[in-house]
Amino acid sequence: MEVRIKGSILSLLSTSLDFVSGEAMSRVLGVSRVSVWKHVQNLRALGYAIEVSAKGYRLEKVPADMLFPWEFPGMESKVHFFGEVDSTMTVARKLADEGHARGTLVIAEKQLAGRGRDGRSWVSESGGLYFTILLAPKVPLPLGGRILIGASLALARTLRGKYGLQAQLKWPNDVLIGDKKVAGMLADTQTESDLISRCNLGIGINVNNRPDVPDSYSLAELLGRSVSRKDLLLSFLEELERTMDRYTREDLVSEWKSLSSTVGRRVKIATPRGSVTGKAVDVDSTGALVVEEGGRRQILYYGDCHHIGRQGT
Ligand code: BTN
Repeated sequence: MEVRIKGSILSLLSTSLDFVSGEAMSRVLGVSRVSVWKHVQNLRALGYAIEVSAKGYRLEKVPADMLFPWEFPGMESKVHFFGEVDSTMTVARKLADEGHARGTLVIAEKQLAGRGRDGRSWVSESGGLYFTILLAPKVPLPLGGRILIGASLALARTLRGKYGLQAQLKWPNDVLIGDKKVAGMLADTQTESDLISRCNLGIGINVNNRPDVPDSYSLAELLGRSVSRKDLLLSFLEELERTMDRYTREDLVSEWKSLSSTVGRRVKIATPRGSVTGKAVDVDSTGALVVEEGGRRQILYYGDCHHIGRQGT
C-alpha cells in the first residue's frame, strides 16, 4: 500500500509540468492530504527533488538509477529493496520461509556481508546490482545444476543482446568479459522428495561500481558509460523466464557450452578432495566439468576453477 502510494505520487507528478495540489493528489489517491505530505517527505529524503509550494508539489528531478519497488510498475509488491543489508540471501531465505511467492525479488544497494561461492565474501559497494530472486523450479535433483546453467546463460545472453558485450561463461557459473569477471551467482536450494522445489538465486553484477577485486571489471568500465541497473535487471528477468522453460532440455547445456570460456582450456580445479589439473574437454548434461589429463578423464561436479591456459591450449 505504502509502496503503491509512492508510485502513484511519482506518476502523478511526472506527468504534470506544473504543480499538483495536495488536495488533488489526496482525491485521486484516496488518502488524506497529511498522508500525501508524509509520502512526499519520504520521497525527498530518498533523493527525489520535489518542490513544495503553496500551489502544491512539483517533481524537479528523480535520483538516477534507483531500484525502489515503485520503479518497477506492475511488480512493486514483489520487490523488497534495502539501502543496506547483510546479504540478500538471508532476507530471501526468511521471505521464502514465510511463504512469499516465486518471483519475489530482494535487492540491496549495498551488502555488508555479501556472500560468494565457497564461503568467500562478495564485495558489494553501491552502484553494483545485488539481488536474490525466489524461484520454484521443480527440477529433478540430478538436474539441479541446470538452474545455475540456465541463469548464467540468461545473463550472458542479456549482456550480449543488450550491450553487445562478448560475454562468456566460466565453469561453473561466472560471467566473464575477456578474462575479467563481471558477475557471479549462487543458489540456496530446498528439496522435496527428488525435486528441487525452491531455489533462491543470488546474483551480483558489477555494473556502475569499480570492483577493487583482482580480475574483476564492471560493465561501466567496459562500456565507458554508466548503465541503468533497472533496465539490466528487467531484461535479465525476461531472459531468465525464457531459459527456465528449458531446464529439462539438452539444448540448454549445448548453448551454455557454446559460450563457455572454460571448455578447451587447461584448468586447475580446487575441490574439497584436492586439486585437479588438465584440459577441460566438456560439460556433461548435468553441468559437471569433464577434465582430461594423460588419457585419464575426471568428472567434476563441484570446485573452484582457475583458467591456466588460453582457449584452445
Ligand atoms: C560468486 O562467488 O561468484 C557468487 C557471488 C554471488 C553474489 C550475490 S550478490 C546478491 C546475493 N547476495 C549475496 O550475499 N550473494 C549473492
